[in-house]
Amino acid sequence: MPLVDLDAIPQVPLDFINDDHREEARLLNELAEAVEALRAGRGDREAVVARFQVLFDHTRAHFAREEAAMQQSGFPPYPVHKGEHERVLAELAGEGRTFGQTGDADRLWGYVSKAVPAWFTNHIMTMDLMTARFVASRG
Ligand SMILES: [Fe+2]
Repeated sequence: MPLVDLDAIPQVPLDFINDDHREEARLLNELAEAVEALRAGRGDREAVVARFQVLFDHTRAHFAREEAAMQQSGFPPYPVHKGEHERVLAELAGEGRTFGQTGDADRLWGYVSKAVPAWFTNHIMTMDLMTARFVASRG
């Protein structure tokens, strides 16, 4: 069973953000599958590193698209939302580096299966929802 149910992602009133969230969740599920396989002794470290990188690149691009929309619409709490994106990107990069150095699949599993999905849902229902409502109201 996939980690995140793509059809249960909270929706916001901007299609491009919903599309990015769906892709983010899909890539997270692929990474989770690779980490699970590694933990079960039938995967390989390189596959995990590759999928982690794809997820990281998509996350950076997806955050940048939200930030551009916030700037174009003059969203007042832009610095708060952008600051949260920067914090998460730094955290992701740190987890990626740690895995690259240690190959600790149990640690990565905890991050990928618990911390990231919990953050993702919470972030969508708070900052992304507020942002989408504001941007959508500005046409
Ligand atoms: Fe966001």
